Amino acid sequence: MSDAVGDELVDESTLVLGIETSCDETAAALVMGGADVVASVVSSQIELHAEFGGVVPEIASRAHLDLLNPVVSRTIVEAGVDERRIDAVACTVGPGLIGALLVGVSAAKAFALAWDVPFVGVNHLEAHLYAAFLDDPTIELPVVVLLVSGGHTMIVEMVDHGEYRILGRTIDDAAGEAFDKVARFLGLGYPGGPAIDREAMAGDPEAIAFPRAMRNDGLDFSFSGVKTAVMNHVRKHPDVSTADVAASFQAAVVDVLVTKTRRAAAQVGAKGIVLGGGVAANSQLREELLGACAADGLRGFVPSRAMCTDNAAMIAAAGWHRLRLDGPTDLDAGAHPNLPLAP
Ligand code: KG4
Ligand code: ZN
Repeated sequence: MSDAVGDELVDESTLVLGIETSCDETAAALVMGGADVVASVVSSQIELHAEFGGVVPEIASRAHLDLLNPVVSRTIVEAGVDERRIDAVACTVGPGLIGALLVGVSAAKAFALAWDVPFVGVNHLEAHLYAAFLDDPTIELPVVVLLVSGGHTMIVEMVDHGEYRILGRTIDDAAGEAFDKVARFLGLGYPGGPAIDREAMAGDPEAIAFPRAMRNDGLDFSFSGVKTAVMNHVRKHPDVSTADVAASFQAAVVDVLVTKTRRAAAQVGAKGIVLGGGVAANSQLREELLGACAADGLRGFVPSRAMCTDNAAMIAAAGWHRLRLDGPTDLDAGAHPNLPLAP
């Protein structure tokens, strides 16, 4: 933890304001020392997008414009700090919806200029990796991270802070996307992940043997086949129990996710497994991953559900580490809709 560019810029008392507007959550948080959440506010736009069955980019950008200032103000009030106490402003610069990202990035730069503090651009995927560090800042590296969100599914080796190796990724749909599409098909509403999670509790996970694509082969994933298999099964058996379909679909996805993450951890000799991203809020995934860690003698780090889905505390935490590693980001840096986690 020495000779990083920004070593003198951060310490345990550095208070970072995080801002997140990459998709459909408008969020702000104040985090001290990269780990201690002083306040975290998330304003979800779910109701605005629900009637369309997914996020409408133009509606998201406009809602961020309306919501961001009140969300930041509320965060500062909840923290009970004077805004002059804030040491840096960190904001998601990608990946995400360009219009949505620009709202947060413009506001974050304006706050940083007005308060005369550093601006730090944060990669949203890196921030998901850091969510677990909010619960346990002492996580020993290297770890393998299963990052499962609405737009991404990957297994990442976190070799050190800021040093990532992507070991596997989806070749088609993201896991969250599969949950959302299957939920929509089953008429369970949007967003689909939590709806399937709830429905599955009343179903039999062994009722239908849905395919586990590429389960025994490498570390990449494919989820478009299981989605199609669900549709074909329901069309062929219109009277099937929706709870059984939800439970069996969820079991197939979780089985592949856990099997491959375990394999990755064994391959690289990781000390533990970290979960991150919205799908990490899934009850069965959390339970099975912790069970696998216990069986393999690894430490399992599963963030609280609120820190798995999009929030700004993880942005502030990742921002603290980025500030230490790279120093401030230029104010003329832009937003990057397709920003990769690692080249
Ligand atoms: O990380 P996130 O909030 O946003 C992105 O960066 O994409 O992830 C959202 C995804 C959605 O696909 C949502 O359906 C899924 O996470 N999700 C879940 C659960 N809660 C949210 N998937 C399965 N089970 C859940 N409990
Ligand atoms: Zn996310």
